Amino acid sequence: MIKLVYSRSPRTDSKIIITDNIDKVRYLTEEQKLFFNKDFSEKDLQYLRLPEGMVIVVNSTKKNAEELRVLGFKVHDLVKNESICSLFCKNKEQTLNFLEGFLLSNYQFLKYFTDKEEKEFKLEKLYISGTNADGSLDKLKNVITSVYWARDLVNEPVSYLDAIKLAEEIQEKGKKGNYNVEVFKEAKIKSLKMGGLLAVNQGSETPPTFTKIEYKPENAINKKPYVLVGKGIVYDTGGLSLKPTPNSMDFMKTDMGGAACMAATINVLAKNNVPVYVIGLIPSTDNRPGKNAYAPGDVVTMYDGTTVEVLNTDAEGRMVLADAIAYANKFEPELIIDAATLTGAAVRAVGVKTAVFMGNAPEEYMSLMEKASEETHDRVVRFPFWDEWKEEIKSDIADLKNLGGPYAGMITAGKFLEHFAKHPYMHIDLSDAYLHQLVNYNGKGATGAGVRLLYRFFEKQVEKRRN
Ligand code: BES
Ligand code: ZN
Ligand code: ZN
Repeated sequence: MIKLVYSRSPRTDSKIIITDNIDKVRYLTEEQKLFFNKDFSEKDLQYLRLPEGMVIVVNSTKKNAEELRVLGFKVHDLVKNESICSLFCKNKEQTLNFLEGFLLSNYQFLKYFTDKEEKEFKLEKLYISGTNADGSLDKLKNVITSVYWARDLVNEPVSYLDAIKLAEEIQEKGKKGNYNVEVFKEAKIKSLKMGGLLAVNQGSETPPTFTKIEYKPENAINKKPYVLVGKGIVYDTGGLSLKPTPNSMDFMKTDMGGAACMAATINVLAKNNVPVYVIGLIPSTDNRPGKNAYAPGDVVTMYDGTTVEVLNTDAEGRMVLADAIAYANKFEPELIIDAATLTGAAVRAVGVKTAVFMGNAPEEYMSLMEKASEETHDRVVRFPFWDEWKEEIKSDIADLKNLGGPYAGMITAGKFLEHFAKHPYMHIDLSDAYLHQLVNYNGKGATGAGVRLLYRFFEKQVEKRRN
């Protein structure tokens, strides 16, 4: 993380100026003002590379939050290898939006490079004009570092991050952030009869984990918790229904993107003292073929007693999530939300720049999520959730089957999960957890998708209850 320092009149050689009027800027020479004024209305971004550093001018006229974030990304690209830089902007909200994009762009995952010092961005310190009296910069920093953490978890290969390690990492963050994390090991998972999680784990050499996170502030707006369930498949080979090569398995280390999203969301809610009572549930294992692996045709009894015919072992996400969602019921939650890299169908339907969501929660929750998506640009697009799709997951020999028909696989997967939720429910299929191509401040690789979205969703929930 870049060191951020507020200062009334910072002076460094490289400067970033965000303004809608060049003439009002104190930090430019008359000559520079003339230069920037020439094309000011046509260009969002102009710069001069001087021997002593960069002078960058961002035109903030009529810019919305997302445009400023993207400009933050573009400016970051220009100054990432300057060691110190100053940011001048009179408008607090614009500063924060710009910084959000700027800081998200500074993320790198260099752990496995031997020459990481060379690759590392050189920017160490950013002076920001103004004051941080309201603490909004610290809050933003906590959001950013939580997104970084989610990205790290997703970028880590299974050779490092197996189910045990994922649980440990969450536990460690809980200790630092002063919220409760409890890890159920295999014996406890067996005694609870979490049949879905245990079935998927049968082919694995590593035992499963089930991590329970609890953040319960005294001033919470809700008596009944919000339960956040995250898919923690640390690697998905498909199991006996092996994924075909080439390519389809290469990035399946990212199949715990939902777990990373939910853990990081609770982490930032706690760090920023957002008054909401939330519980996180993370069922985790890898999904592999093995001598004892669960097989197509198996019938599995889930945590809540529902029987499921397994017709494809690659539809493992819904098996582990179903147990966690059923377990969520015991907290009498106000709302259950899950996030999961659940289906290729979602990716095919909408691509990788948005997640898909659906649910049976009252409209006020659904539209609040859409508003949070608009505001953060951490996007979700709503899909229908009609009961007609339930037909497709009926089995001939058990209560449900884990495979739907040939179409709308993201919806039948959602309907499967809904069966286990006895309380208002929302499902997020995180098709945007990982990018193979750079998409501005979202980076290339793990995006941390869903963290800013859910954080804002809960902030909005608090605002709504308070008014
Ligand atoms: N983890 C995958 C879904 C996935 C694939 C997410 C590619 C992101 C990118 C999931 O476990 C899976 O394999 N789903 C199957 C389900 C099918 C067998 C019903 C799929 O979508 O093909
Ligand atoms: Zn799968
Ligand atoms: Zn999967």
